[in-house]
Amino acid sequence: MTRIILITGATGSVSSALIRSLKGASGVRLRALVRDASKAPALRAQGLEVTPGDLDEPESLSQAFAGVNDLWLLNGVTPRQPENSMNALWAAKQAGVERVVRLSAIGASPDAPTRNGRLHALSDAELMSSGLKWTILRPHFYLQNLLMAASAIGAQGNLYWDMGEGKLAMIDVRDVAEVAAKVLLSDPGAHHGKIYTPTGPASLSLAQAASELAAGLGKPVRYVPVPHEAARKSMLDSGMPPWVVGLLGEYSRAYAKDWGNFTTSHLPELLGRPARSVREFAQDHGAAFGAAAGGAA
Ligand SMILES: NC(=O)c1ccc[n+]([C@@H]2O[C@H](COP(=O)([O-])OP(=O)(O)OC[C@H]3O[C@@H](n4cnc5c(N)ncnc54)[C@H](OP(=O)(O)O)[C@@H]3O)[C@@H](O)[C@H]2O)c1
Repeated sequence: MTRIILITGATGSVSSALIRSLKGASGVRLRALVRDASKAPALRAQGLEVTPGDLDEPESLSQAFAGVNDLWLLNGVTPRQPENSMNALWAAKQAGVERVVRLSAIGASPDAPTRNGRLHALSDAELMSSGLKWTILRPHFYLQNLLMAASAIGAQGNLYWDMGEGKLAMIDVRDVAEVAAKVLLSDPGAHHGKIYTPTGPASLSLAQAASELAAGLGKPVRYVPVPHEAARKSMLDSGMPPWVVGLLGEYSRAYAKDWGNFTTSHLPELLGRPARSVREFAQDHGAAFGAAAGGAA
C-alpha cells in the first residue's frame, strides 16, 4: 500500500531538507501543505502534490489532509504555534491520519527557560494524548542558525554571539531531516511513543565552534562574545520582531549557562552514523561564509 505523507512547513529549512531525504523513497507519496500559492510551483517541480492550507485557519485544511496516512507536523516560530499545532492535529483526526511525527524543540517542557520550549511542551502533550500514533523530535540548536552570522564572518572573520563560554551540541538541519525521514519511512508502530533529541556529535563552546568553522572554511574565524543587551539591540535594529528577539535572548541566556551542554546517542542509533560536525557544515556552506578561495585548509 502506498502511504501519503503530508509535509507541513514545506517551504522552510527542515522540511525542505526532509523532502530531499524522502524523495525517491518507495511506497510513499509526498504532499505539501502550502499557505502561499506563489511557493507551490517550486515544490511541484520536485514532484510533490501541493495543496493549499493555512494552519491559522482550520477550515482551510480538509483538502490537504484527505487520505493522508502520516503527518509531518512542523510549526513556525510564532506565539500562535500551539494553535497551529492544535489545528493540524484536529484536521488529522478528522481525516483519519494514522501517525504524526512532530518537530518540537530541545528541552520542551512546562519549565523550559524559553517561551519556545514551553509552547512546544503544550503541543507535545496534546499530541501524546491524541490517541494517534506519535513520535516527537526535539532537536538541539541548528547549525544553520550560524548563517545569521555569515556576513560578519565573511567580512571580518568575527562570530558575534551572546552565549558567553557556554557549550552546546549544535545539529545540522539535514541531520534532523534524515532522522525524521527514517521515522516516517518506518512502520507506523516502530517509533510510536518515542521522543528523540538529535544533537551534534560534540558539545562545543562558540570559541571552539569558531575554530572548527575556520578549519572548514580555510580562513580565520574568532568568537567575539557580546553582552545579551547588545545582541538584543542589534537584532531589534535589524528589524527582527521583538517576540522573536525575546525568544532568541532566552536561548542565549540558557546556553550561556550550559543548558545545552550535552549530546545524545539518538541520531547515531537511528541513522547508523555520526551526526555532521561543525567543520563539515562549514565546508558545505563555504560560499555563505566567504570561504577562502581554493576551499578549506
Ligand atoms: N532554530 C533552531 O535552532 C531550532 C531548534 C530546534 C527546534 N526548532 C523548531 O524548528 C521549527 C522551525 O523549523 P524551520 O527552521 O524549518 O522553520 P522555517 O524555515 O522558519 O519554516 C517555517 C515553515 O512553516 C510554514 N508556516 C508558518 N506558519 C504557517 C501557517 N500558519 N500555515 C502553514 N504553514 C505555515 C512556513 O511557510 P511560509 O513559507 O508560508 O512562511 C514555512 O514553510 C520551530 O518549531 C522551532 O521551534 C528550531
